[in-house]
Amino acid sequence: MPEHSSTTASCRVNGDRLWSRLMAMAEIGATPLGGCNRQALTDGDLAARRLLSAWAKAAACTVREDSAGNLFVHRAGADDASPVVLTGSHLDTQPTGGKFDGVYGVLAGLEVIESLNDRGVATRHPIELAVWCNEEGCRFPAAMMGSAVWSGRMPLAAAHALTDRAGRSVRQELDRLGIAATAPVVRSRVRAALEVHIEQGPVLEQHGKTIGIVTGVQNMCRYEAVIEGQEAHAGPTPMNLRRDPVRALAQALPAIYAVAAARGPEARLTVGIIETSPGSPNTVPGRVRFTIDVRHPDATEYARLRSEVEACVREALAHHALAGDVRCTWEAPGVVFDAACVGAVRAATAALGYQALDMVSGAGHDSCNVAAVAPTAMIFVPCAGGLSHNEAETASPADLAAGANVLLHAVLALACAA
Ligand code: GLV
Ligand code: MN
Ligand code: MN
Repeated sequence: MPEHSSTTASCRVNGDRLWSRLMAMAEIGATPLGGCNRQALTDGDLAARRLLSAWAKAAACTVREDSAGNLFVHRAGADDASPVVLTGSHLDTQPTGGKFDGVYGVLAGLEVIESLNDRGVATRHPIELAVWCNEEGCRFPAAMMGSAVWSGRMPLAAAHALTDRAGRSVRQELDRLGIAATAPVVRSRVRAALEVHIEQGPVLEQHGKTIGIVTGVQNMCRYEAVIEGQEAHAGPTPMNLRRDPVRALAQALPAIYAVAAARGPEARLTVGIIETSPGSPNTVPGRVRFTIDVRHPDATEYARLRSEVEACVREALAHHALAGDVRCTWEAPGVVFDAACVGAVRAATAALGYQALDMVSGAGHDSCNVAAVAPTAMIFVPCAGGLSHNEAETASPADLAAGANVLLHAVLALACAA
């Protein structure tokens, strides 16, 4: 079998196979509006892993899972003991997710392996395809969980203890699904790691470019805020005698949006969950819980925004004399990707003749954790209207094939060199 040489320069992925596998995967957890609901460690997630494993085994790869719920597909290298070239992403989705977020990076990685098999191309280094568990962090509240455990950034016990809103833990769900809950989390030595993903924003489309060369990821964190009040009857209780936590929320919300606006157009602030308790139309709530997702690419602005957001919530609590708290429950600090890996992506993009743009990712990705322990970079392709975390999320087959071709040639360059 030829190693990387001029004969591999003409190698291309099979875009039709990639698209048809994306559509087959999208049938698992398909929603009426054309998206996917395949949240982490559900029956749908298990079905997706099984389908991927069947494809991987048919492509002469081995498959293993670990007790953080990660799944690894291994394609042997000519020197199989040498460090792996890692690629991959996630198969879990948001509750109203699309067909491409994460899934594309997994199936593009498999398509790279299939294309090398089709051409009989051996690489010196093994290629490993990772399916990271619970990237979305919507069911179990820690985004990029599996890669965080794998990279040593999160203790396995902390991941296992995470619970969903029904009180089921990650550990219980791993056991229920029979996902190797006792297999050790083993980190292969990694020569380089690459992840291809839809952009999830509008920039590539607006600039008419096919490939985003991702140089890093912005800073991000999640807060959980609670305001305690007193349950009371909605009719007889005079307004001035209520201890209504929603009144404090109503003060906090405009304040946090204002401080985000003051931190410039790159600041991001999202209140994704607001829950009143007990959630009855004619009971003044005794408690309100809400989440605040805060992001900024600049570390100083990010730190300022975080302390301003915390102050706004505390001021609202004090003004209404209500108890409560606002605390950061999850953080992924900003990442600058490895120059050599970014260089491999840039060289592959140029050799293939695609129009490209350097960019910093606004979304979090497992590559943030991988980058803490291995040289890493990412590749973006456009998605229609920049829409993601939306059932209408879509991308063109040609752009998806282009991103997979960049992945193929960057992987070849990294996996064939000594
Ligand atoms: C991942 O989907 C994120 O929240 O950026
Ligand atoms: Mn994703
Ligand atoms: Mn996502």
